[in-house]
Amino acid sequence: MAVKLSKAAKSLYLALISISLLPNVIASYRLEDVEIPENLNNVKIFTDAEILRFDGSDPNLPLYMGIKGVVFDVSEGFDFYGKEKSYNALIGRDSTRAVAKMSLEPADLTSDTSSLSEQELKSLDEIFNTVYLAKYPVVGYMDYLIREKRRLNKDL
Ligand code: HEM
Repeated sequence: MAVKLSKAAKSLYLALISISLLPNVIASYRLEDVEIPENLNNVKIFTDAEILRFDGSDPNLPLYMGIKGVVFDVSEGFDFYGKEKSYNALIGRDSTRAVAKMSLEPADLTSDTSSLSEQELKSLDEIFNTVYLAKYPVVGYMDYLIREKRRLNKDL
């Protein structure tokens, strides 16, 4: 009886471990899957310092926002993103983590996707596709995305 019980406990333990590891195995978002043009010759590549100019503080410049390393001109969404509007914190930077977590906390205003949950990664992909790709023009790419692509594909 004692042996049976410990076997059952062991199976349960293994099942729980597998379930808790599953999100890491099936996580949907991978930076390397983000699509970029084949020819980068006429493509604008932004550093963190370069995109910061487009944060809405200069009314003569458009509003740029990075998500998953893709930079969008979100000027059409001025009522969301303009200076002193609700989501202005997301502008002038890559806000991938903030969008994934639906957070405007300063610590989340970054491209860092480490330790996001499967749910957050799914939500990120959904918002990326249904809001940003659907509504706003792409004006360039963040340097960190291009670096990762170049690391994987020496031809770029
Ligand atoms: C009480 C909290 C919140 C409420 C009531 C709220 C409400 C809304 C509403 C009504 C829209 C407009 C939908 C539309 O017209 O298409 C929207 C869009 C959006 N919200 Fe929120 N929101 C909240 C918090 C947040 C937070 C914390 C974030 C952080 C990232 C966020 C990110 C966004 C984004 C990225 C959009 C899309 C804007 C666009 O279309 O360009 N929201 N939200």
